[in-house]
Order: sequence, then structure tokens, then C-alpha cells
Amino acid sequence: MVLSTVGALGATLLPAVAAQPRPAAHKGKAEALSGLVSLDDFERAARERMATMAYEFVASGAGDEITIRWNREDYNKLKLRPRVLVDVEVLDTSLELFGQKSDFPILLAPTALQRLTHPEGEVETARGAGVANATFVVSSLSTRRMADIARATTTPLWFQLYGLNKERHGFVRDVVQEVKASGCRALCVTVDAPVLGARNRQARAGFRIPDVFETPYYPERVGAKTAAGLPILGGFTWKDVAWLRSVTNLPILLKGILNPEDAELAIRAGVDGIIVSNHGGRCLDTLPATISALPAVAEKVAGRVPVLVDGGIRRGTDVLKALALGAKAVLIGRPYIYGLAAGGATGVSRVVEILRDEFKMAMALTGRRTLAEIDRSVIG
Ligand SMILES: Cc1cc2nc3c(=O)[nH]c(=O)nc-3n(C[C@H](O)[C@H](O)[C@H](O)COP(=O)(O)O)c2cc1C
Repeated sequence: MVLSTVGALGATLLPAVAAQPRPAAHKGKAEALSGLVSLDDFERAARERMATMAYEFVASGAGDEITIRWNREDYNKLKLRPRVLVDVEVLDTSLELFGQKSDFPILLAPTALQRLTHPEGEVETARGAGVANATFVVSSLSTRRMADIARATTTPLWFQLYGLNKERHGFVRDVVQEVKASGCRALCVTVDAPVLGARNRQARAGFRIPDVFETPYYPERVGAKTAAGLPILGGFTWKDVAWLRSVTNLPILLKGILNPEDAELAIRAGVDGIIVSNHGGRCLDTLPATISALPAVAEKVAGRVPVLVDGGIRRGTDVLKALALGAKAVLIGRPYIYGLAAGGATGVSRVVEILRDEFKMAMALTGRRTLAEIDRSVIG
């Protein structure tokens, strides 16, 4: 039903981006999803259903997509070192982040323009996040308002910010107040995208933000140019981070740190957390894989604030490896969007549940019963 709605709405509003109804859309939701057992299965199913432009927007990266490949390859190169004959009958995957309890260390990363993928957009994702009990980080380029998203779920919501530059301070202050009033519990400031990267695949697919979408938290859209003639996404500096710190008591995380020196500056600026991220390989090609950048950042931070990581996480073993190398939790981007495309809220929750269950299997099969027991000795 969800899928046929995609077709119906698309036919009236979004001729350029609508998913074409496929035979699978006529099957029941559970039936259509039952054969999808891994995150990559969801990508294949989503690709069949998504309009080319929407799929290209989600799947693509910058330049030659070398960083996207490395994000996966570097996980695959790491071998696991198990311990056996440990009683793994009971596992505890729970954690606390900024005073919020979570059942497992997997969050939904901010991804823009979710109405490209589903007519309900971020509201549908929030429903799925609620079923799976996963924290959902809403993008600055959300196509729905926080109040509507919050009404759809009981799960914790965080909000991601771009563009803290001085001329936007008044606007950003209002946004922070609005999202906080809607229940937002933390802010992720994305620092790795002052300008857009060379998104060749998007350009080839003729990608543009459909006019029918509102982006209430980024009304100027993307496209203004810097003095150097580059398309602006979210340019600002450390001074603006200090400004944000002075106007909110919400926890602030900086998303997009790869260099330990920047991690140190972030802590000095008073941030509460760091997300090691290369934006899913969408900004600057040949940046290192995040799993390879993580250890040096975690070492520098030395437990002073939580370090999270995203990029290329597709298996429970990847989650285990990230935690072993110093992450407190991970975020996934593309996989849950593929879940949204393949089965709406049910698809989103299935993706999270599959990854969570694989993570538990990886813990049990390496003899680790709690998150605290996952340390570097898991990596062989
Ligand atoms: C379609 C799409 C849109 C994205 N939009 C945003 C965004 O608006 N803000 C942001 O900070 N990161 C954005 N990201 C990056 C994600 O937050 C995250 O860093 C990345 O997707 C993680 O890699 P993965 O997709 O391999 O899991 C986006 C990623 C994708 C795939």
C-alpha cells in the first residue's frame, strides 16, 4: 500500500522523480520484504523501485567514488579474533549517550530530502525508527517539520545543522528553539561540507530538488556561491561553533571530523561528541575510510567525549569493529533509505533490526557479552 502511494503521489506531483509502480507493490508489505535478509538485499530491492534520479541521489558519491569503496573495503580487511566457551546466553547491547538510554548502538544518520524516496518522507522514517527503537537524526534538508516528525514516533530525535555562518545566526537560533520544543535531544553540526563536492553522478542524472518540496530548515536551498565561485552547502568556522555553544544547552556533536587535530579543537570548543564521518563519500573523494580514520581520533579524544562513526556500515560485524576501534555507537545512512524505499516504515525498522541482530550474533560469536567487553582485542 505504501508503495502504491509512492506511485500515486509521484504521478501527480513528481513526474521527474516518481517511482514507477512495480508488480511487487501489489504484494503485502511483509511478503514483499520477507526475502530481504541483509542490508544489501534492501539496496537491490530499493533500486528496482526508485526512480533513477532518486536512486542516483542516494547511492552516489563524489568524484570517482573511491572513498565510498574504501568505506567498505577497509571494514572487510579487518579480521575478527574470537574468544570461545564464553557464556553468551545473555547479551547486553544497551548504552547511554548524553543521558539518553538506547537498547543498541545504532542510530539513523541525517539524510536529506526523504520525500524523494517516500511521499511521507521523514515522518515515515520516524515511524520505522520508533518501531525499531532507534534514535533518528533529522537532516537540515528535511522535507517535513520536526513537530510532524515528532508526532509520528516515540523514538528520540536529534537534529543536524548546516550553515551556522553569521548571517544565518538569527535563523539558526529560531530553528534550534523550534526543534528543541518538538523534543529534539541533541544537535549534530555537519562540518565537512562547507561547499558541495563534485557530484558527477547526480549531475549526469540531472538531479535537482523538486520545487514541490519545502525544506523549512534550509529555505534558501543549495546553490548560492562562495566568493571563490563554489556552491555553498554549510560554510562556517570555529567561531560559529562557539556561538552555537553559547545559545543552546542541547548536546552538540560535530559530524565530519577525520583529523585528530580537529577533534582536539572540537573538545576545546566545548562540544559534547564527535562523529567521525566522510559524509558517506559524498563530499571529497579519496578521503580515508572512516574505520581507518577512527582509531587516531579516538586515541586523541581519549574518552573525554563520545566518538561515533558512520560510513559503509552494512553488517553487524562492521558495528563490532567500529566499537572495537573506539566508537561508542554508529550511524547508518543509505541502508535505511533503501528500507524506506522498499517498504516504508516497515522497511526502515527491518533494516535496523537486521543490523542489530547481526551485531548481537557477532558479539556472541566473538565471546563478548557487553559493549564494554568489545575492545581492540576483538580485531585479529
Ligand atoms: C542521500 C543522502 C543524503 C545525505 N544528507 C545529509 C545531510 O543532509 N546532512 C548530513 O550531515 N549528512 C548527510 N548525508 C551523510 C550521512 O549523514 C552519513 O554521513 C552517510 O550516509 C553515512 O554513510 P553510509 O550511507 O555509507 O551509511 C547524506 C547521505 C546520503 C546517502
